[in-house]
Amino acid sequence: MHVTTPLTLLGGISPAEFMTTYWQRKPLLVRQAIPEFKPLLSRPELFELAQKNEVESRLVMGTNGGQRDWQMQRGPFKRRAIPKLTERDWTLLVQGVDLHDDRVADLMAQFRFIPDARLDDVMISYATQGGGVGPHFDSYDVFLLQAHGQRRWRIGRQKDLSLVPDMPLKILANFKPEFDWVLNPGDMLYLPPRYAHDGIAQDECMTYSVGFRVPQTGDLARELLVRLSEGAEDTAGCDLYKDSMQPAVSNPAEMPQGLTEFAVSALQKSLKDPKSLQRALGEYLTEPKANVWFEIGDAPNQLRSVRLDRRSKMMYDAHHIFLNGESWRAGGKDAALLRQLANQRALSSNDLAKASPEAMGLLFEWCDDGWLHSGA
Ligand code: SIN
Ligand code: CO
Repeated sequence: MHVTTPLTLLGGISPAEFMTTYWQRKPLLVRQAIPEFKPLLSRPELFELAQKNEVESRLVMGTNGGQRDWQMQRGPFKRRAIPKLTERDWTLLVQGVDLHDDRVADLMAQFRFIPDARLDDVMISYATQGGGVGPHFDSYDVFLLQAHGQRRWRIGRQKDLSLVPDMPLKILANFKPEFDWVLNPGDMLYLPPRYAHDGIAQDECMTYSVGFRVPQTGDLARELLVRLSEGAEDTAGCDLYKDSMQPAVSNPAEMPQGLTEFAVSALQKSLKDPKSLQRALGEYLTEPKANVWFEIGDAPNQLRSVRLDRRSKMMYDAHHIFLNGESWRAGGKDAALLRQLANQRALSSNDLAKASPEAMGLLFEWCDDGWLHSGA
């Protein structure tokens, strides 16, 4: 992708300009971001997804009228549990549709001018007239693409993010919209994190949310420390705390200073090697979500071309290749080839001709795992 080429998707500005002017800074409304856009999944296809155990879905009912009253249920939903289409004010939200549908995964790929490490999923919502999830804010960036019908979006940058207490959803207590737009199919609205918004279906309506993953310090530190400690167990297993100089104590509940120092040095040791930290980060970022599994493939005798499964997460750094929570050290031509696979999510027969026997071995292994598929 040429990051300086203007895109219709971004209203005629380039990805480079979008990232410096809007990303994480301010909203952008794009009329006809995808001209003549038609929903990629029909209503029955979406409802069918919401029936599956492995698909995360929610049903929200409520109005934002005089008395604020919201209800939320988690899926899976049998067809008869979904309200009638003639009933107003309800929304069905289906998360991670890109994992289940190639057309939606391809739509998400249009946003790959943003690093894969930040892309999360595509959620599709279906609503009847009046439906919505109420005024709220999200902690992630989102592109809201109108797929069918009209949705009225009111948005505002407010400091007061206090919530209505005891609600099953996050509902802003004092929503103060600054802008008010009706989006038609193909229109798109980008919102940075913590921007207040409220989308109300004007009629039967489907909206696609391309959402981003925003790591938080606490979560990230916990994940990395767990992974680093697993790596450290093998090498530092015999590194025992020693206190041969510990005098007898009359205050046994007081923690010994030496033990605190031992704990600090244990943590410092696990952080000392930057490569281990990078490895842990890459493995964490490419870890498939809990509801994802791969069908074990059957690697053919020969690979002519390959493409990554839509569920595969592949990234790299200066020393490693990461795929679905695992890592490999790679250098030279093999690293270049595998990085190409990560960026393009496919390799042609010409590309494969350059692969070493070791790299070919990996590709066969990944085909067996169902992470990679061989082309014609
Ligand atoms: C929706 O699609 O109904 C809600 C999306 C959002 O507000 O984040
Ligand atoms: Co939202």
